[in-house]
Amino acid sequence: MTSPASVTTLPALSGDERAHSDRVAAHIRAFIRERGGEIGFDTYMRLALYAPGLGYYSGGAAKFGGGGDFVTAPEVSSLFSRCLARQVADILRETGGDVLELGAGTGRMAADVLAELAMLECLPERYLILEVSADLAQRQRERIASLPPRLTRRVEWLEQWPAAPLRGVVLANEVLDAMPVERFVLRHRAAGGLDVRALGVGLKDDRFEWRERSPSPELMNAVADVVESLRAPLPDGYVSEVCLAFQPWIASLAAQIDTGVALLIDYGLPRAHLYHPDRSQGTLRCHFRHRAHDDPFVNPGLQDITAWVDFTRVAEAASSAGLEVAGFATQAAFLIGAGMESLLSTEMLLVGEDTQAQATLAGEARRLLLPGEMGEVFKAIALARNFDAPLAGFSTQDLRGSL
Ligand SMILES: C[S@@+](CC[C@H](N)C(=O)[O-])C[C@H]1O[C@@H](n2cnc3c(N)ncnc32)[C@H](O)[C@@H]1O
Repeated sequence: MTSPASVTTLPALSGDERAHSDRVAAHIRAFIRERGGEIGFDTYMRLALYAPGLGYYSGGAAKFGGGGDFVTAPEVSSLFSRCLARQVADILRETGGDVLELGAGTGRMAADVLAELAMLECLPERYLILEVSADLAQRQRERIASLPPRLTRRVEWLEQWPAAPLRGVVLANEVLDAMPVERFVLRHRAAGGLDVRALGVGLKDDRFEWRERSPSPELMNAVADVVESLRAPLPDGYVSEVCLAFQPWIASLAAQIDTGVALLIDYGLPRAHLYHPDRSQGTLRCHFRHRAHDDPFVNPGLQDITAWVDFTRVAEAASSAGLEVAGFATQAAFLIGAGMESLLSTEMLLVGEDTQAQATLAGEARRLLLPGEMGEVFKAIALARNFDAPLAGFSTQDLRGSL
């Protein structure tokens, strides 16, 4: 993640990029007109990110890494996926069965997790990948094809959730934050009380603009849950987001687990911290070439749009779908519990006197672990069914009480 930039400082687009973004904008405008002139922000975000062949994740944008828009933990360093694999191996030793990865990005995490599981002699029967982006699924196939055959033959891509519930592990890194959110604003009434207004998207002279509109009953209920659970009142004009998509997605996820654990890693907070009065403009962020800003109407189809995860909502959705919240910790605590220190010392020994390689490894570990980097704002949550063995990743910290 990068610090917020003003949209006026964003890099200029090439002719092809401008033409692509214009096509995405035209597609969304046509959709808005079909719907009578306004759509919910969740629909705007879904189209901008996932419209087939056009959206940010479905079109050909580079997205990940130095030449893309953002960097995820598996792209920062294979230390991340190798630690995660150690936790996965512990679980697979109890359950046997498969790994199912949701939203596998470039496939780097899948490749690194599989290589580490092979080293630990704990390969899953199958490594399943469910990916909504055809473009990314193709990149994953290319990445996985470079692995030894005894690993590649275990990997299968799914178009939809598996037909039968599985034993084993489900993994999702930075998938929750990529799900479309609804936006809302709170209006204090002069006579007392609070109105919840949805922030939808309309058009003014062909440009996208925010529109205050009546909220759906689902959004009303979700915001009521937020307001009721907070100690401090939220100020007039407070804007934030709610992801209504978590509930059905986690219900589907729960239906896939017969015996095992889902490990979801993402940036976010428990509800009481996320909806803090000081965070009065919410957590919606756009990422374009490593600049972060907060205008989702700029360069549609070329920039990522995300929002921080309300982990209380995730935990509630999991509990109502029959999963147990078996752990909740910062990414740093999770990686340390899963064995980061011993992995790092072994790697340091392997690089020997190569001071450049030592510095690279130390830098990667700092990026994954330090509170000012990815260590604290990212959290890991474990959702389990029929599984009660201890989880090493959550042995050094238990933040479940904050949910
Ligand atoms: C920010 S990227 C993270 C990619 C990868 N996990 C990583 O950490 O590098 C989000 C990923 O989630 C995928 N995605 C979004 N919604 C999804 C869903 N409902 N089911 C499966 N994948 C999804 C996107 O296509 C993309 O691969």
